[in-house]
Amino acid sequence: MRTVDLIEKKRDGGELTTEEIAYLIRGYVSGDIPDYQISALAMAIYYKGMSIREIHDLTTEMVSSGNQYDLSCIEGVKVDKHSTGGVGDKVTIILMPLVASFGVPVAKMSGRGLGHTGGTIDKLESIKGYQVERTKEEFIQQVKDIGISLIGQSEHLVKADKLLYALRDVTATVDSIPLIASSVMSKKIAAGADKILLDVTVGQGAFMKSLDEAERLSETMVSLGREVGRETIAVITDMSQPLGRAIGNRLEIIEAIEIMQGKGRSDITEFICELAEILLSLAGVEASSDEIRQHLVGGAALSKFEELIEAQGGDLNDLYRKSEAAHVTEVLADEEGYISELPALAFGKYAMKLGAGRATKGDTLNYETGIVFEKKVGDSVKVGEVIANIYSDQALTEELMDEFKSYITISNECKKPREILKIIS
Ligand code: URA
Repeated sequence: MRTVDLIEKKRDGGELTTEEIAYLIRGYVSGDIPDYQISALAMAIYYKGMSIREIHDLTTEMVSSGNQYDLSCIEGVKVDKHSTGGVGDKVTIILMPLVASFGVPVAKMSGRGLGHTGGTIDKLESIKGYQVERTKEEFIQQVKDIGISLIGQSEHLVKADKLLYALRDVTATVDSIPLIASSVMSKKIAAGADKILLDVTVGQGAFMKSLDEAERLSETMVSLGREVGRETIAVITDMSQPLGRAIGNRLEIIEAIEIMQGKGRSDITEFICELAEILLSLAGVEASSDEIRQHLVGGAALSKFEELIEAQGGDLNDLYRKSEAAHVTEVLADEEGYISELPALAFGKYAMKLGAGRATKGDTLNYETGIVFEKKVGDSVKVGEVIANIYSDQALTEELMDEFKSYITISNECKKPREILKIIS
């Protein structure tokens, strides 16, 4: 087989065989096929797509490129969750302790943020002492002991995705359905959970820009899960504006705690409850909406979260610390009306400029900086009211303030966005 012939075949719309896909992935992971050829292949896939059989073969081959976790020694139905990326997305930090507070074992590996989207692991690392690295044995033992562990992606899990994702990130080939589906599902399958909840974000802050694309991605991933006997549900969620109030690592931990103390905005609180209901029913646990809400706001989720932080070396005093950003600047409304747009992509990139996100893998994060919105889409606002607070290390320049304000749209129309747009199971 020659790599160039396979690139040409895909470029011209052909269907790669199981053996050809195995040759390409194995060759790439072993270093025999160089980055530039796989970049060309990724671009050909981006334009020509893949059949469901090809995506299945690609996913299976990617799973085989690294270790696989066997969680069968942990009693109960193990659940996992994955988001296709968003701005202000602190769902995992709240949802997983909430589900674990019902006795459902949570063994979860999460990723770091890149570009305008944040990552759970960076947010947890903003808590002093929190260890994201655990051996497989320690990870499993902690789930047996306290019912939850949240760690960073193992170096040895799905090596092909590690290489491919970094390459896609710099070759404009991230937002491709076959490539996202195989990337997400290979990690979920290798990580070993029995049931999987996928949060497929849609909107200008997400990789999927239209509901139609998000549906196709969801259906593809649900079918990949089903083929390997892992029940999978995809929830398509709105990412046209940032999720919740905060963007930024420490600021999102603070918001997560506020939600678990019953002090969060009602929209994100309800959203987490709805996701918990789906995840609990996947795990075979019957819980009413009231019970779930009570666990979330009444202390059960928060005490499970504290157990998790302590078990992974985190400092509980530091957990409750406020942001130490040097400057907090209020953004005031210049006109009256309803907030009608807060573009997630623009604010995600803005938070990056403040140091809350990294443009390249090697960038160091500032955990303390970011944005906290006092108003979200659909909220009414009067002249002089605070729309947001910007947390920065340098005093905010006029230019940066003007840029921030230019992203906010206020109109006479009150439109309330729906968080869950569709469920695909
Ligand atoms: N998240 C992933 O894990 N992979 C992708 O390709 C996109 C989002």
